[in-house]
Amino acid sequence: MAKLTEFYLVLVAGVLSIFLTVTLSENLQLVYQWTQLSSSSKNDPSQNVLFSASTAAVGENEFNAYGNLPMGVTHHKGFLYVTIPRRRPGIPATLNVIDMSRNPSVNNPTLDPYPNLLVNTLRNDFSADSKRIVSVYRTQVDRCDRLWFVDTGYLEYPGDAGRQVQRPALWVIDLTINRSVRRFEIPPEMVEFGYGIPNIEVDVADYDCGRAYAYLPDYEWRRLYVYSLTEDRMWRFEHNYFSFEPRYGDFNVAGQQFTWYDGIFSVAVGGRWENSATERTVYLHAMASVSEIAVSNRVLQNETLAQLGNGVYGRAFNHLGARGPNTQSSSHAYDPQTGTLFYAEVNRNAIGCWNTRTQFSPENHGIVHLDNEEMIYPADLRIDSTGDLWVISNRLPIWIYSELNRTDVNYRIWRQSASRAIAGTICA
Ligand SMILES: *[C@@H]1O[C@H](CO)[C@@H](O)[C@H](O)[C@H]1NC(C)=O
Ligand SMILES: *[C@@H]1O[C@H](CO)[C@@H](O)[C@H](O)[C@H]1NC(C)=O
Ligand SMILES: *[C@@H]1O[C@H](CO)[C@@H](O)[C@H](O)[C@H]1NC(C)=O
Repeated sequence: MAKLTEFYLVLVAGVLSIFLTVTLSENLQLVYQWTQLSSSSKNDPSQNVLFSASTAAVGENEFNAYGNLPMGVTHHKGFLYVTIPRRRPGIPATLNVIDMSRNPSVNNPTLDPYPNLLVNTLRNDFSADSKRIVSVYRTQVDRCDRLWFVDTGYLEYPGDAGRQVQRPALWVIDLTINRSVRRFEIPPEMVEFGYGIPNIEVDVADYDCGRAYAYLPDYEWRRLYVYSLTEDRMWRFEHNYFSFEPRYGDFNVAGQQFTWYDGIFSVAVGGRWENSATERTVYLHAMASVSEIAVSNRVLQNETLAQLGNGVYGRAFNHLGARGPNTQSSSHAYDPQTGTLFYAEVNRNAIGCWNTRTQFSPENHGIVHLDNEEMIYPADLRIDSTGDLWVISNRLPIWIYSELNRTDVNYRIWRQSASRAIAGTICA
């Protein structure tokens, strides 16, 4: 009898735990964290090694720990590509990699310049060099093992020190050989300066790695640039929907109140249409906005249409509606397995979701993670090829408008599978 009761108890417990794992949404898991980035200076070998030894003695001024604010994160096969835009002097490398197998501890993983230090090093006289990368905000890896990003070519140093070193350029690096396979200089007819291009989304055909497009939002000029890998050409779209929304420009993040005017900031390629091999919905939004816009990738990929002007293509952009209060978002990304869009919601320290199989409305938007201490300013969000969500939070508004506490943890990298993240939310 006792045996039997025990059996039933175990059974009940087992059923309960299955029930719990299925229904409770799991928070994002912390993967890495830093207080400040540091350099492994030879003078002080006891210091945390964040950039490996060879980067300590770079030319441009001293290493500036506070200026090294990590912004973007993309995961691919055990490597994390982490960007540090050059907004202060003293940044040894704007594009970096963390080899996860060599960094088992959560604290202070080592960043190595990617693809190497030289490509990341500014020339002493700040002269242009098409072999080097000046400043990168965010990256994307496609299903063909290629890393895509825009080098803005611009040093956003404070005061009068800012300068354009070279034309902005789109780079494609083949991660299997660590070599650049394409560099496309964005022509002046597209845009005068590159500093408004904070993000990138890649749209690759299912069976043809050659047939790939990159979508580049420009928050400053409120334009969307489209690049075709096959044609090696770029064109652009303009639309009122790319602008900020005046009522949603006020932010309140960790005690900092500020007003932003940033327009189109993130683009996410959604699911394939039922009766088409290549047609997909592309989602996009401005930063100072709570609206989401949808357009077919067929429209974006049509250069003729782009040249005909907004009067012709304007109606192809569809205003889906508002996501809800305080849902202003930096990056968003689409998970094909669950059909869910995930948003990095900078104005409420959260990761939000919407299952695209449901009607677009605030009620159908959920929160998968919210933390007013540890998730302050999720600056980037990506989904890797295995369906894992990756997020970096960096407290950017405190860095800009106040001062980071240099002994507190400021930068964090998070991970969760998309399906676990939405479990128990409205998006499941
Ligand atoms: C590419 O770079 C990564 C990270 O630095 C390195 O681990 C890998 O061995 C490199 N692969 C090749 C083929 O050089
Ligand atoms: C591109 O758009 C133009 C103008 O609407 C149209 O005539 C043409 O068929 C489109 N091309 C493709 C490949 O859809
Ligand atoms: C800074 O962070 C440390 C570590 O969390 C904490 O002990 C300290 O009180 C903080 N300082 C201020 C001024 O908030």
